[in-house]
Amino acid sequence: MVTRADIGVIGGSGFYSLLDDATEIEVATPYGPPSDVVTVGRVGERPVAFLPRHGRDHRFPPHRIPYRANLWALRSLGVRQVLAPSAVGSLRPELGPGTLVVPDQLVDRTSGRTQTYYDTDGVVHVAFADPYCPAGRAAAASTARSTGWDLADSGTLVVIEGPRFSTRTESRWFTANGWTIVGMTGFPESVLARELAMCYTSLSLVTDHDAGVEAGEGVTHEEVLAFFATNIARMRSLVTDVVTALPQDRTCPCGNALDGIKLPFDLPE
Ligand code: ADE
Repeated sequence: MVTRADIGVIGGSGFYSLLDDATEIEVATPYGPPSDVVTVGRVGERPVAFLPRHGRDHRFPPHRIPYRANLWALRSLGVRQVLAPSAVGSLRPELGPGTLVVPDQLVDRTSGRTQTYYDTDGVVHVAFADPYCPAGRAAAASTARSTGWDLADSGTLVVIEGPRFSTRTESRWFTANGWTIVGMTGFPESVLARELAMCYTSLSLVTDHDAGVEAGEGVTHEEVLAFFATNIARMRSLVTDVVTALPQDRTCPCGNALDGIKLPFDLPE
């Protein structure tokens, strides 16, 4: 029975399970319970922990996801590398539904979400210039490329507060700024991973053209879910292939994110 894993997958809308024959683990954290039980099993030889971001019954909207509990729970099961599939809207006509984007940059347009573990005495400023793990991105891009995905191997993800979608003018403004895709969950998930010195890689599946893109008439949640549902088998197989392609040993800088910083509390091992 596997009860610890060094790779974690946080499944997005419609992505509620990954592993067969897995052990379900209820994890308590100082930040309350995570979105759901964590299932731990194997993909090939590699132990993997899976957590559905919105809960299996999709009860947490993006702005109410217990992000801190989720990342803490994964780290406490041994996870050091996180893969984060999610549904996003495209801000560019040439990136249509079905495209996989592996973003290298992020813009935070959320408001009011707790985005740090370190709202305590003691000052911790993590570097976040490059929010994503370079090794995870390389593994994701080469896997997607070799398995025939339409791929953008870089791009800027703008994360909006939601739960509403963007207005046409907001969306045009995002495009005019040179940003690539828009979603609702990529922050603070990514920065919380960094604050725990975990690698974080976003696997962003374009489900629609956002409202400001010529081809985009505006989107509904039902349409996003329906599109994601028709692509779930492909996403599952991509995630399992990326798990296999991830390096066993971390040589990226992510694990050193807290070097030299005096932490106000111990991180879970
Ligand atoms: N998730 C999927 N499509 C989206 C969009 N157009 N805007 C924000 N989040 C999304």
